[in-house]
Amino acid sequence: MRKFGLIGYPLSHSFSPAYFAEKFEREHIFDCFYDLYPIENISDFANLIISNPGLEGINVTIPYKKSVISFLNEKTEAVEKIGACNCIKIKNGSLTGYNTDVIGFEKSLSSKLTGSHTKALILGTGGSAAAVEYVLIKLGIHYSFVSRNSETGKRSLSYNELTKEILGQHKLIINTTPLGMFPNVDKCPGIPYEFLTTDHYLFDLVYNPVETLFLKKAAEMGAITKNGSDMLVIQAEESWKIWNEI
Ligand SMILES: NC(=O)c1ccc[n+]([C@@H]2O[C@H](COP(=O)([O-])OP(=O)(O)OC[C@H]3O[C@@H](n4cnc5c(N)ncnc54)[C@H](OP(=O)(O)O)[C@@H]3O)[C@@H](O)[C@H]2O)c1
Repeated sequence: MRKFGLIGYPLSHSFSPAYFAEKFEREHIFDCFYDLYPIENISDFANLIISNPGLEGINVTIPYKKSVISFLNEKTEAVEKIGACNCIKIKNGSLTGYNTDVIGFEKSLSSKLTGSHTKALILGTGGSAAAVEYVLIKLGIHYSFVSRNSETGKRSLSYNELTKEILGQHKLIINTTPLGMFPNVDKCPGIPYEFLTTDHYLFDLVYNPVETLFLKKAAEMGAITKNGSDMLVIQAEESWKIWNEI
């Protein structure tokens, strides 16, 4: 049996096990198994690898996307630059780290991107914001972060600074904060939604619920919207391609 799995803690609400179980059934893949490996401390990671010799691929989630990097033998440029790894391929005892958030976000964002989306606001400055930043640089889209702490050292604005003029200049707005995620569905980032137009494109990395309050308010102003569901599926499929060298 070929073994794959997810490390993180806690792992009670993970998307990946159900996704891979369905994929294996749908595609008649009978020699693979995807399991959860909830480890309470990253120091347990080395033991996990040693005690599971059949393990060929691992997804990594909160809180280990950064700390797992020190266990890697090789890593992609994206992992190096972003400082986060969410997918590992194990071959002949060697661990190579990838970041599939990057590929997932780029492909998902691009499906609705137009020529007017040349400047962006990234809401939040956490792990996924770094992956979003990496993609925007690659696509040549200028960006500013919006943070509760605008003195983070990155080029960032505070939520209070978001005027009609600023929103008029930034037609792409990406939510990388967890605001609005189930069960806190009545929360949303504090931007002035009344200044959004039909030229705006609001992307929410949150995927549950399907329509967050952030996207609902944007849609009410006629803006283009997209949630994080596609990104999640694309990432899972990218992991599969990496593990199988497709
Ligand atoms: N769809 C996908 O495939 C996908 C992939 C990755 C992540 N996600 C989702 O993206 C979200 C963020 O993940 P992450 O790993 O980047 O989390 P994270 O590292 O904790 O960062 C979230 C950032 O959001 C801001 N933030 C946190 N709480 C906030 C609050 N109460 N009000 C305003 N801002 C707040 C913070 O930035 P400041 O301190 O600068 O304000 C924080 O750094 C999660 O909901 C996650 O599920 C989805």
